Amino acid sequence: MTKIIGVIQVKGGAGRSTVSTNLAGELSKVGKTVLIDCDMPQGTSASWFAVREQAGKAGSLTSDTASTHRELVAKVEQHQDADYIVLDGPPRIAELTRAILVLADLCLIPVGASAAEIWATADILTLIEEAKQVKPIKARMVWTRYRSFTKLAQELSDAAEKQLGLEALKTSLAMRVSYTEALGSGLTGAEIQDQNAKIETRYLAAEVMSLLRKKS
Ligand SMILES: Nc1ncnc2c1ncn2[C@@H]1O[C@H](COP(=O)(O)OP(=O)(O)OP(=O)(O)O)[C@@H](O)[C@H]1O
Ligand SMILES: [Mg+2]
Repeated sequence: MTKIIGVIQVKGGAGRSTVSTNLAGELSKVGKTVLIDCDMPQGTSASWFAVREQAGKAGSLTSDTASTHRELVAKVEQHQDADYIVLDGPPRIAELTRAILVLADLCLIPVGASAAEIWATADILTLIEEAKQVKPIKARMVWTRYRSFTKLAQELSDAAEKQLGLEALKTSLAMRVSYTEALGSGLTGAEIQDQNAKIETRYLAAEVMSLLRKKS
């Protein structure tokens, strides 16, 4: 059965496209994967895929776009032959974000270790509570641009997990220039010359697959 992973956050620049492209690229090594860019016309994920395809590295990954929640539902229906569908969400609370929450088997919420992003995550929690009226929702924060050695990052992440009551993935993506380079080159962190990014990206995909296998 197709597994759907939604990547949502109302704060722009939080790392949705970084998480989406890395995850889609790595999952495509395990099964047929579709990356649907729901943040049009910006289309970071769609552009990343175009570069990847041009370089002959698409493999079993394809990409699509959706600009409205109706279009998204139709596209997800259309790609039911895929093993994984990754949805890169828009930076706002929109019908599209609500649709992603309801469609996804797992929702990832990228959060940079800054107060602004943690406040923005509180808005997502309201959406999650609403969506829970429709179906059970499995959601996890993902720390991005993480600087684990800073006291601030540690304090913020501890406080956020406590205040928001939302579990974080064990894997976090640290602050690394290589992620920005990978995004521009149509690659994943596992495909570039950065040993730490390789490990984080592979762990990210492995942890997501393991969560998707779990019942709750
Ligand atoms: N872990 C990281 N380390 C370093 N740079 C990062 C990291 N994650 C994201 N970035 C950079 O931060 C910027 C925003 O990231 P990204 O495009 O993934 O966020 P987004 O939430 O999709 O933003 P947008 O609102 O523009 O769609 C990009 O330039 C990206 O390369
Ligand atoms: Mg984006």
